[in-house]
Amino acid sequence: MVLRLVEVTKTLGTQQVLEGVNLEVAPRERLCVVGRSGAGKSVLLRLILGLIKPDSGEIWYGETNLVPLTDRELAPLRREMGMVFQNGALFDFMNVEDNVAFVLRERRRPESEIRQQVLRILERLFLKGHEKKMPAELSGGMRKRVALARAIISRPKLILYDEPTAGLDPIGSTEITDLIRCLNEEFGATTIVVTHDMRSVEQIAQQVAFLHAGRIYKVGSPEQFLSSEEPVVKAFVHGLVEEPAVGAC
Ligand SMILES: Nc1ncnc2c1ncn2[C@@H]1O[C@H](COP(=O)(O)OP(=O)(O)O)[C@@H](O)[C@H]1O
Ligand SMILES: [Mg+2]
Repeated sequence: MVLRLVEVTKTLGTQQVLEGVNLEVAPRERLCVVGRSGAGKSVLLRLILGLIKPDSGEIWYGETNLVPLTDRELAPLRREMGMVFQNGALFDFMNVEDNVAFVLRERRRPESEIRQQVLRILERLFLKGHEKKMPAELSGGMRKRVALARAIISRPKLILYDEPTAGLDPIGSTEITDLIRCLNEEFGATTIVVTHDMRSVEQIAQQVAFLHAGRIYKVGSPEQFLSSEEPVVKAFVHGLVEEPAVGAC
C-alpha cells in the first residue's frame, strides 16, 4: 500500500470530525473520497499531507508512519506529494508560467530545465499560448488546469485533488476529470480525488470511499457504490433527504 490510515481521529473546535478512519490506497490507484459537505474530506487530505496532526491513529506513507514526524522530517516525503487545493490556490501576482515553475525554482533546478518542463506541461494541459497571463485573466477551467500543472510538474508519487470540478460547467468538468485520469495513467501517481460529484466519480474512480459520520462507511468499486441499496449510501448518491425537514414544501 502507498497509503494506510489506521483509526485516525481528529477533533476541530468542539466537533469530532473524524472518529476512526481506516483507509488503504494501492499504488497507482485512483480513489475517490466522497461524502457530504462538512463530512471531513478536506480535513482528511490535510492530515495525509501532514499539514495537521491527528489526535490519534496512524498515517502510513509506504513504510513510514507520518504522525510522529517533525516538519523537518516530513519535508522530503511531502515533496513526493502533490496537492490541488479546492480554490486552486494560485499566486495572483504571478503569471501562469511562474506559478507552474514555482516548486522547481524552490528546489533550485536549473532555469533551462525549468523552462523546458513548464512548457511541456502547459502544452499537455492545453495552456500553450497562455504562459504570460495572470490568474485573474483566466477562466475557471483554465485556473484549475494551471493548478493541476503546478501540482504535477514535480512528478509527485501521490497526488491529492480537493473538489477539482467544483464550480465548473459539465464540459469544463469533463475536461478536468479526463485530465486527472490520463495523468494518472501517464505518470502512475497514486491519485486521491475528493468530490461530491457523482459524474466525477463515474469518470475517475477505480475505488470509492464514502466518508460518513466520521468514518469510512463503505469502500468499493464505483459500480457497487452507485448501485448500492444501503439506505445511507443510496441517499447520498441520489441526493435523497433521509428525513424531510419540517415545513419543507
Ligand atoms: N480549522 C478548523 N477549525 C474548526 N473547525 C473546522 C476547521 N476546519 C474544518 N472544520 C470543521 O470540520 C468539519 C469538516 O470540514 P471539511 O473537511 O472542510 O469538510 P468537507 O468534507 O466539506 O471538505 C466541518 O464541520 C468544519 O466546519
Ligand atoms: Mg472540502
